[in-house]
Amino acid sequence: MAEAGQKTHSAHNGCKTILRTKSKLKILFLRQKRRLCFALSLVAMVLILHLCWVSYVDRLVIPFPFYLQLWRNASCLECLRPMPARTGPQGSDHQARCPVPKYGAFPETRQVVFAKVHKAASSTVQNILLRFAMARNLSVLLPNHKATINQASPYIDRNAVVPHPEGKTMFDILCNHVVYDEKEISKYFPESAARVAIIREPMSQALSALVYFATRFPTRELWRGLSKHPDDPVNGFLNHPEDFSSETSQTNLEEFFVNNRMSVDLGLDLLDFKSSKQNQSKIRSFLKRLEAEFDLVLISDYFDESIILLRRYLHWSMKDIVYLRVNTAYRTQNNSVWNRKPNLTATTVSTFRRWAIYDYELYEHFLPIFFKKLKSECSFHEELNAFRLILKDVVTYCSNATAAKPHLLVPEGAWNGEFTVSPSDCRLMAAPEEDLVEVVRQTQRRRRAEFFRESRRRLSKKFKTSGKS
Ligand SMILES: *[C@@H]1O[C@H](CO)[C@@H](O)[C@H](O)[C@H]1NC(C)=O
Ligand SMILES: *[C@@H]1O[C@H](CO)[C@@H](O)[C@H](O)[C@H]1NC(C)=O
Ligand SMILES: *[C@@H]1O[C@H](CO)[C@@H](O)[C@H](O)[C@H]1NC(C)=O
Ligand SMILES: *[C@@H]1O[C@H](CO)[C@@H](O)[C@H](O)[C@H]1NC(C)=O
Ligand SMILES: *[C@@H]1O[C@H](CO)[C@@H](O)[C@H](O)[C@H]1NC(C)=O
Ligand SMILES: *[C@@H]1O[C@H](CO)[C@@H](O)[C@H](O)[C@H]1NC(C)=O
Repeated sequence: MAEAGQKTHSAHNGCKTILRTKSKLKILFLRQKRRLCFALSLVAMVLILHLCWVSYVDRLVIPFPFYLQLWRNASCLECLRPMPARTGPQGSDHQARCPVPKYGAFPETRQVVFAKVHKAASSTVQNILLRFAMARNLSVLLPNHKATINQASPYIDRNAVVPHPEGKTMFDILCNHVVYDEKEISKYFPESAARVAIIREPMSQALSALVYFATRFPTRELWRGLSKHPDDPVNGFLNHPEDFSSETSQTNLEEFFVNNRMSVDLGLDLLDFKSSKQNQSKIRSFLKRLEAEFDLVLISDYFDESIILLRRYLHWSMKDIVYLRVNTAYRTQNNSVWNRKPNLTATTVSTFRRWAIYDYELYEHFLPIFFKKLKSECSFHEELNAFRLILKDVVTYCSNATAAKPHLLVPEGAWNGEFTVSPSDCRLMAAPEEDLVEVVRQTQRRRRAEFFRESRRRLSKKFKTSGKS
């Protein structure tokens, strides 16, 4: 009896557990359903966001793997911000990785302050900037004579520069030599103007400056060095740079072209110059200031990369940036002493480094920053290659621009709209610095004369009509 009772009791219990687990399962199932629902709506939300993003970015279909790619490649910050540039590659594989830059989506930057650093391919950049200004009637701050505003000090004398064509105070473009000083620059350029500089590997920059100035514009100091090292001025300079530039006569920057000139051009304070070469805190604060003042520091050893980077920052077109090299190394005679190769022993390198420490620190500070920028750009190498192919065509065409072929037609491509290069474009691209500056100067003077003639005419007309009434 007791046994049977136990049996029914246990059966009853078993039933209860079954029921309990059943209801537990039911609850669990309901919960799962809620989770499933939640997950599904999450997916739907992501899809909707994706569609919004796609239509927002550039009304282009961005293939879905884009997200997976981005996930894997968190360094690609550019993918997240709308890119400059015009057309996208038509159906090429660039799209699979990045939202493709769209040119024309952003207005081009028309105000640029370029710190023209001596012997760092800056004349080629200047040529690009001047042609950009000419094509748009922009106002360039130019010296009244020759091509240098002031290489002795940062001071910009209003009487030494060509007045603004429309009588305004603020200009659009600066690309002529002046020792950089933000305070002086801000009298002529709005804060919104892009600030760009270019630098070069310090030893090659200094040697280039040495050959250029010693053979063309030798100063007293350079003569002194040449007379001490007549047979091999290159190695003489690297081992005894102080023979070519005294470190005590710092007042005249006009004679200061082979002593950390890149830093000098960028506005280095020359107080106690010689001893300050060992002052780490001064070096650091100089670099910090440059980092704050400049939007972009280009590296002339990576010239095409620099130009593409510049273009992406300023949203310029391909035609704006094609170039022919100008003002390249002065060609010396075969038997010239200037053809001696630098003998780079450890002592030579360390001697020269101590001498040019500001320029070395400058270069070694901004080179990694430059590389980091390149790395964060999307499809950079595709654009670079396209640019180089176009440059090749332009060089070929311009080396033989005859009447037989009135212009070079560059067809629309992944990175450019169709454009033409005419013989007159070639002439401008190949023009020496002073010639091109002269062309722009004449144009601006003409514009100014016209502008004031027109204002006088309007004024007298107004005067007449108000006189009648
Ligand atoms: C990922 O980064 C590499 C360079 O680090 C770059 O070449 C590539 O285009 C990037 N991919 C995406 C999707 O941004
Ligand atoms: C520049 O100015 C000239 C005359 O002053 C004018 O004919 C030309 O259309 C202007 N160009 C642009 C792009 O505004
Ligand atoms: C180093 O430079 C800083 C200015 O940047 C100056 O205040 C300091 O006195 C200098 N130190 C020496 C030892 O000259
Ligand atoms: C200079 O040297 C190169 C090879 O070393 C030779 O081909 C060239 O003809 C020389 N030029 C002159 C002007 O001597
Ligand atoms: C370079 O310098 C080393 C050490 O002073 C010397 O032995 C060598 O001959 C030099 N080479 C040249 C090409 O001048
Ligand atoms: C320059 O172009 C003309 C006509 O197109 C051609 O006959 C000539 O061979 C070319 N010269 C060079 C150096 O390419």
